[in-house]
Amino acid sequence: MKDITILAIETSCDETSVAIVRNGREVLANSISTQIALHEQYGGVVPEIASRMHVEKINLVIEDALKTAKMTLDDIDVIGVTYGPGLVGALLVGVVAAKSIAFAKNKPLVGVHHIEGHISANYITHLDLEPPFLCLVVSGGHTHLVHVKDYTTYEIMGRTRDDAVGEAYDKVARAIGLSYPGGPKIDKLAKEGNKDAIRFPRGMQDGSYDFSFSGVKSSVLNHINGCKMKGEEINEKDIAAAFQDSVVDVLVHKTMNLAKETGIDKIALAGGVAANKGLREAMDEACAASGKKLYYPEFVLCTDNAAMIGCAAYYEYLKGTRAGMNLNAVPNLPLGKR
Ligand code: KG4
Ligand code: ZN
Repeated sequence: MKDITILAIETSCDETSVAIVRNGREVLANSISTQIALHEQYGGVVPEIASRMHVEKINLVIEDALKTAKMTLDDIDVIGVTYGPGLVGALLVGVVAAKSIAFAKNKPLVGVHHIEGHISANYITHLDLEPPFLCLVVSGGHTHLVHVKDYTTYEIMGRTRDDAVGEAYDKVARAIGLSYPGGPKIDKLAKEGNKDAIRFPRGMQDGSYDFSFSGVKSSVLNHINGCKMKGEEINEKDIAAAFQDSVVDVLVHKTMNLAKETGIDKIALAGGVAANKGLREAMDEACAASGKKLYYPEFVLCTDNAAMIGCAAYYEYLKGTRAGMNLNAVPNLPLGKR
């Protein structure tokens, strides 16, 4: 079969990323321009600033990716782009750039769901991985337990009813004085703390596969306020360790229960929080104990990047998915429906 080289664009949140991916799994370039330093001062992503920065950076990042891959647009077969979910103004920048290239160069265009991209990051790191498998998608905006039935067919088996895991991490981090994004900082701090010093609640212990993280988040905030009122010192390390323990405990239990119930023996992690060392270790242990095989993407492919979009676009392209010049950003695009 002829090689298919995809130029993929991802601008759904605060990274402007362009990748060049051959046959879905071979990454020739994965350029990422992050806006974290800009948003840090506001404690989170400011949508208007994000869109403006994408506009400023997109052409530079496209050029950088082509240069890294030693290619021109004429070497590209297909254009892939994230068209949802995400911040509408941010998504639009990528969608317009992708449509412009597809139109000017007369190339096929494929719209990709951002979460489909996160799940697909696993295919790049693990060349042997093929569906079906279960995927725990944990990011700043999403917490889903997904049955990946084949490369483009997904069934959501559970989801958060309130905050996403990454969102809870970022809010707790902010409460203990850590800057955005707080997830990696809590992960680091948790290593130095005593997880048994405080007991935070575990949400949704009702046997379902849905999640809730607003309770544990409020409980951390109450604990901090309680300490302040009593004039006690706040132990950030213990809070980080106990919070992470509560979150990881729920994620691991629900995922392993679903794996047991469905009999599926391959489990993957995806999304920014899949970079969490505590979660990786606990999942490693649980999977080893129950004979399941665990997959997670390398660190750079856990958080937002265009390589994962290029991978997902490849499998959508093979299936025949094509977008027209009317492709639009869909901020609340559901997974698995087109
Ligand atoms: O997937 P991602 O880059 O963006 C979304 O699609 O939302 O995920 C970003 C989220 C942030 O909330 C960040 O705090 C969290 O992933 N994150 C982590 C870690 N690294 C990133 N959370 C916990 N531990 C980490 N090591
Ligand atoms: Zn993401």
